[in-house]
Amino acid sequence: PKRIPHHFADVLIIGGGIAGLRAAMEIDPRLSTLVVTKDLMRESNSTYAQGGIAGVIDSTDNFENHVADTLTAGANLCDPQVVEMVVREAPHEIRKLIEWGTKFDLDSKGELMLGREGGHSHHRIVHAMGDSTGAEIIRAMIHQVREVLQAQVWPNTFTIDLLTTGGVCRGALVWNAHHGKTFVWAKQTIVCTGGVGQVYRESTNPPIATGDGHAMCFRAGAVLGDMEFMQFHPTVLYIAGSSRMLISEALRGEGAQLVDASGYRFMPDYDERAELAPRDIVSRSIVEQMAKTNQPCVYLKLSHLDPEHVHNRFPGIAKACASFGIDIAKDSIPVRPGAHYMLGGVRVDSDGRTSIPRLWAAGEVTSSGLHGANRLASNSLLEGLVYGAHAGRAMSDAALDEPDMFQAIPLENAEVPRPAARLDTDDIRNSLKSLMWRDAGVWRDEKVLADASTNIDAWIRYALGRQFTDPAGWELQNLLTVARVMINSARLRTESRGVHLRADFPTSDDENWRRHILQRKGSEPE
Ligand code: SIN
Repeated sequence: PKRIPHHFADVLIIGGGIAGLRAAMEIDPRLSTLVVTKDLMRESNSTYAQGGIAGVIDSTDNFENHVADTLTAGANLCDPQVVEMVVREAPHEIRKLIEWGTKFDLDSKGELMLGREGGHSHHRIVHAMGDSTGAEIIRAMIHQVREVLQAQVWPNTFTIDLLTTGGVCRGALVWNAHHGKTFVWAKQTIVCTGGVGQVYRESTNPPIATGDGHAMCFRAGAVLGDMEFMQFHPTVLYIAGSSRMLISEALRGEGAQLVDASGYRFMPDYDERAELAPRDIVSRSIVEQMAKTNQPCVYLKLSHLDPEHVHNRFPGIAKACASFGIDIAKDSIPVRPGAHYMLGGVRVDSDGRTSIPRLWAAGEVTSSGLHGANRLASNSLLEGLVYGAHAGRAMSDAALDEPDMFQAIPLENAEVPRPAARLDTDDIRNSLKSLMWRDAGVWRDEKVLADASTNIDAWIRYALGRQFTDPAGWELQNLLTVARVMINSARLRTESRGVHLRADFPTSDDENWRRHILQRKGSEPE
């Protein structure tokens, strides 16, 4: 067989979203840093973030308010110390982004313009180019990492698996179309691979969000937590056969109303905060109203707002909708909920340390304790910044303390023989996405979850042990692994809390379930 080349780096960063780039900024320049990204560097969930970053900026706001709003949304499962830490560091992190060249929107006095989103008691969301906040931040950060820090970047490079020996992480096995497989040996490795939205048929996430980091950390023996908590965004553009683009919550922050097919504004019937209730409540209400009216979607209406302001504030959404013949200032926008953000993931401490030595993680791939059972809008870019910074500093210090080794280490991972029959990976992937949407969507119950479990087990039996040779196969394995862990947790949590809604257990059970479900390969969930 062809020999696999070896590459040595001090620090390996897997993923080029906000958390990975923020970590890269903290690595000591004496160390060699390699950033690998599965697609082009700018292609990440962070780039598609519309709303913005939450932070206490306004003099009428304070840290206590932001902490309280985050804890309320998290439905008794946040770690209060983590919430306090992240909220207090937000203004500093926002200032750093400005220093690095991010152009946030300013008001006529030159002050940061602050938006509002569901669950926030104050205006505290900084945004850029109206509704293209993520794209602007990532543009500025990529410039810093590439041009100023001159970190080495391998785009279009798929990370197949972490390299572990004796329970310690030593880097990763990566692949790209030009060079095939390469062993990357690193003193310290961080996983910043984002989310898992592609496990669902309806999702705001780009095609790359296939839970690769969740799955590779699980395979390596890391502890995953909170995997039953998939957050559904209430308003995803619904164009049959086409776009599933996010329609930012910031529209509702500016006064957009939700109406059903007959034009009836229904949110006040469900919650006194109406369109600005936390997003689990809005998603649930939309699903209920769709069922009541027997329609595949509801509508966002902005026709009562100033058209010029609407177009100026949301240029990206206006343009995308215009391509479907919708003028957002005049026409109602068809929307319905879709999978948006995975709250669960690799358990980390406040420096992003996982349960595996020399392995770190930050951002959506983690379960840090910030979000609990439901994430407050615009707290996720913030989490990526704070944890990316902490982990970057800690892993940089750890790598500086280690002598150079420059030798490959014998691996424990067994080679698997390649089976003869071809597998239609697209077919299984699409079936899995439909199954998860139907059985593990906004509402779940034991019957449908058990059914999903049986199907997933069958696919796992013949797909997980295979030796695939391209990303489509590896992604399928990752999606199946993540779906399996999600379903296990969703079945165990016999209550409703935050984004996890069980039709058979519709209320919260604090006595038994004010705790996290942790899973680790080869052990019973606890
Ligand atoms: C949005 O713009 O509605 C998304 C914000 C978020 O998910 O935090």
